[in-house]
Amino acid sequence: MQKKVYIESYGCQMNVSDSEVVASILAKEGYTPVKSAEEADLVLLNTCSIREKAEYTVLQRINEMNNLKARKKGLKVGVLGCMAERMREDLLEKKKVVDLVVGPDAYRTLPELLEKVGTGQKAVNVLLSREETYGEIIPVRLDTSGVTAFVTIMRGCDNMCAFCVVPFTRGRERSRDAHSIVEECLDLVAKDYKEVTLLGQNVDSYKWRPTPSVPDAGADSTGSVDPLDRPANDGRATVDFADLLEMVAIACPTLRIRYSTSHPKDMTDKVLQVMAHYDNICKYIHLPVQSGSSEVLKRMNRGYDRAWYMERMASIRKHMPDCAISTDIIAGFCGETEADHRQTLELIGEVGYDMAFMFKYSERPKTLAARKYPDDVPEEVKGRRLAEIIEAQKVASGKRLQSYLGQFHEVLLEGVSKRSTEHLYGRNSQNSVVIVPRVADGVELKPGQLVRAEIISATIGSLKGRVVSVVNEVALTA
Ligand code: 5AD
Ligand code: SF4
Repeated sequence: MQKKVYIESYGCQMNVSDSEVVASILAKEGYTPVKSAEEADLVLLNTCSIREKAEYTVLQRINEMNNLKARKKGLKVGVLGCMAERMREDLLEKKKVVDLVVGPDAYRTLPELLEKVGTGQKAVNVLLSREETYGEIIPVRLDTSGVTAFVTIMRGCDNMCAFCVVPFTRGRERSRDAHSIVEECLDLVAKDYKEVTLLGQNVDSYKWRPTPSVPDAGADSTGSVDPLDRPANDGRATVDFADLLEMVAIACPTLRIRYSTSHPKDMTDKVLQVMAHYDNICKYIHLPVQSGSSEVLKRMNRGYDRAWYMERMASIRKHMPDCAISTDIIAGFCGETEADHRQTLELIGEVGYDMAFMFKYSERPKTLAARKYPDDVPEEVKGRRLAEIIEAQKVASGKRLQSYLGQFHEVLLEGVSKRSTEHLYGRNSQNSVVIVPRVADGVELKPGQLVRAEIISATIGSLKGRVVSVVNEVALTA
């Protein structure tokens, strides 16, 4: 009999991608993904620990599972991801409804763990690994849009930012085999996907070396397109992130390429050069700044100061004047003064971000900050500072969106607009959402099409466009 699994993902894009790896592992065990917990024999919550609020949301959801279990005999509930790693056996002990706890590096053991769960026992595996990349597993795509997809290129993080729980929940950094990444992207092209986002906690430290058994082809490094052809001192080329980006751009010329997340301390000009050179790499960089104050950045252990960040910004603008930049900002980190906070507000205006994710600092157990610095900014001050940051960012993004008016952008259509079935939404290269009428000059447009649109208005957070042609297909009247 076909078994049914429902996977709910919380937190970052990496979790969405991991859920697809899990779906692939479970497919071999006879599980089909379904779209609601009610339909499922197995419910898996892929969880996030980044802030206390994220964990609280999941704990509530786990409680809801009690009711569902009472109604559905035989239903099993599992907790995956970062909370599984952080809370481990605690979850099994304190939340009776949970049958299974599996950390981010242990998904291959799901079949054995489920077997144990099947006999009425509880099962747990939260071992972290130095090698696991799930490299050869082709994920089962759970997002049914069929237009955009995530491909994980590396796992874990070695940065040790003082506020961040990720190194504890996802372990040491490791890069996935470059060939398997290119193959997965080619598989997406074969399945008619139009866009890929390459994912890693810190993509700029991607580094992969082929094993010695891979024969060396390299002779001449100049103008070589495949970095694996380039000779290295020991006869084995190391592929860095710029090389990988180039490999994917060349192998998949019809695929739009995005990536996330960069780190200001590691982002190289080589990456910017590759981005500028290939039209199919989107002109968009997510570059978390966290704070505009060098003092705070130092305590955060970010490895750069404000001047360094602004220099990276200038380099992006030099290489790609049309590149959009988004960021993450934390309000009220340990010891943050009003003067520090004002520097963050100033920086937002100075950079002119297209978009930002903004958070109140939330102390996380085990982190450097939790051990070393008191969480001394009062809650109401954090709240007020966050509100001011959001306001400053609203102004900045409004300006950016206004600057696109009258321009012609290529927009990849992703789906029907939530507000109106007469409109489709998509994204331009800069990652802004663009809403266009579903029918242009009598031609019905479809998700998956790349269209050229004139930007005719800008509202909060999105643009409106008038489609003038379908790229690579019959042109509409210009
Ligand atoms: N408190 C608040 N925000 C945090 N982030 C990471 N850890 C914390 C924390 N403890 C934010 C950072 C990071 C984003 C993914 O989440 O801005 O870039
Ligand atoms: Fe949340 Fe970070 Fe884990 Fe992603 S890696 S799920 S953001 S804690």
